[in-house]
Amino acid sequence: MDIKKIRIALDGPSGAGKSTIAKKIAEKLGIVYVDTGALYRTVGLYSIENGISDTDTEGIIASLQKIDLRLAYEDGTQKVYLNGVDVGDRIRTPLGSKYAAAVSKIPEVRAFLLDVQRNIAAGGGVIMDGRDIGTVIMPDAELKVFMTATAEARAKRRCLELEEKGMPQPYDEVLADIIARDKSDSEREASPCVPAEDAILFVNDEYGIEESADFIIDLAAKAVSA
Ligand code: DC
Repeated sequence: MDIKKIRIALDGPSGAGKSTIAKKIAEKLGIVYVDTGALYRTVGLYSIENGISDTDTEGIIASLQKIDLRLAYEDGTQKVYLNGVDVGDRIRTPLGSKYAAAVSKIPEVRAFLLDVQRNIAAGGGVIMDGRDIGTVIMPDAELKVFMTATAEARAKRRCLELEEKGMPQPYDEVLADIIARDKSDSEREASPCVPAEDAILFVNDEYGIEESADFIIDLAAKAVSA
């Protein structure tokens, strides 16, 4: 098959570099990068902006009726429109991460976001990053990679990133946060973050961004020629 039609499911925990690496792969292969975490973040954002608590499951479920969510791709960049307004960076706050983790545990929210994700996957030519892409969203993807790194390696990378942004945080706190998020994402009942049976496990502690991207591109080339 034409590699431009490939469907790549890239799953794994927070901080393994999925979004940066997936973006590179999309650029190099000329396919679309779909960041599914942004959808959960957007549902969370609606709660934040409308005074719904992250523990108010009923309130979050009721809010879904008032949410119109659209994805658009402009110059290769994904935009999420919430009731017609681009959410931009408003979904990338620590509170946004907390709400995204909370809403992603609710089966009704996952069901609500299923169609929008499957519709994009249907045409092929995509690399989607998330937690349940290989298990639920694209179970028949040509390539499934579960990419991870040890919690320590991810904490080190995150500390460097925060330092570069001028917002340094103690390593111990960053590590504790990563361990807590892993636990919450992997132990939830609804679509926990676990590798699909046929996923390739890629632990990238010793790999840089370019090397990780090239490693997956090699796998993609093999998958389409198989
Ligand atoms: O990848 P991210 O950090 O932007 O994801 C935000 C939250 O959404 C995170 O707690 C995991 C959850 N998520 C999910 O449950 N399923 C996905 N396909 C993507 C993200």
